[in-house]
Amino acid sequence: MRKVEYPENAWSSFLSHYELGRPIFWEQAFGRRAPLVVEIGCGLGEFLVRTARAEPNENFVGIEQAWQRVKKTLRKIESYYDKNQTVPFNNIRIIQVDAAVAFERLFVPLSVNKIFCLFPCPWPKQKHIKYRLFSRDFLKLLNSRLMMQGEVQIVTDHEPYCDWIIGELSSTGFDYQKQIVQPRFETKFERKWTQAGQKEFFQLSLVKAEHQDVAVTKDVELKTYRVEEFDPDHFHLDEIAEDIVVVPKEFLYDVQRKKGMARLLVSEKGLTQQVWISIEKVVRGWLIAKTEGHTVLPTSGVARALHHVYQAVKCASDSATQKS
Ligand SMILES: C[S@@+](CC[C@H](N)C(=O)[O-])C[C@H]1O[C@@H](n2cnc3c(N)ncnc32)[C@H](O)[C@@H]1O
Repeated sequence: MRKVEYPENAWSSFLSHYELGRPIFWEQAFGRRAPLVVEIGCGLGEFLVRTARAEPNENFVGIEQAWQRVKKTLRKIESYYDKNQTVPFNNIRIIQVDAAVAFERLFVPLSVNKIFCLFPCPWPKQKHIKYRLFSRDFLKLLNSRLMMQGEVQIVTDHEPYCDWIIGELSSTGFDYQKQIVQPRFETKFERKWTQAGQKEFFQLSLVKAEHQDVAVTKDVELKTYRVEEFDPDHFHLDEIAEDIVVVPKEFLYDVQRKKGMARLLVSEKGLTQQVWISIEKVVRGWLIAKTEGHTVLPTSGVARALHHVYQAVKCASDSATQKS
């Protein structure tokens, strides 16, 4: 079998914002300065890869939440290396993250030229409307990250969603145009609807006319706490249900190593993260900190969860003292 040389592995198209830090310096990530085009929910990467190949002078970022789809996109990129044995294009980067988190934290204002979103989940049921991505706040966020005259192009199979987005546009700084378009994007979801008999889709083109100011959401510094005593037998975590929701899921304790680990789900502003917090015996007392080696966005929710564990540890030693 002939050995194929990969001058650059396709997996290098995958970026981890946990490793790179936030916001991402995109020119550095691509190794060049070029217009920045972003696709939200790039699915299997069909449109992203095709467009990036057709526009070699632009830098393309694909945002996708689902890991299986990210993997398929990377495999698609890899398939080009197999056939050509050369670097056919190096202008795609993929990030696995929620689109709102990405635009809040990874892109600075006035940095993006164009944003595509093809067949976003329409959440057609009334009770699910709250899950729709293109709310007024999200549109303002996109506006702030776009350059002046920058564009958002949304294509949907669901006309009520298109009209709902139009209803969300006031005070977002966009001019818009709605058009009925034929299938032409050749993506999995376009094929799905075309095969089901749909012949027309709804395209919304938004052009940035006025700038909206939305600052980059900064990382929160995560504290470590130290206490003198810890009694795991009296340790109990309650749920917090405020604007930040913290749900304790499990607590593991290793008696020999004198180390406990609490797993919590932390939800805030549409972002839910699984957070592990350690309570560990150190030379003087016990240290409470985010467990090393697992990745979380350092948000105010995570800081709140750490403080919550700290308070519960203090309560546990107080009640142990009272009982003795
Ligand atoms: C209906 S599919 C469309 C996929 C692709 N654009 C196509 O036309 O085949 C919607 C895609 O958006 C992704 N997605 C949904 N909400 C997202 C979010 N908030 N951030 C990032 N990706 C999201 C889903 O995982 C899914 O891949």
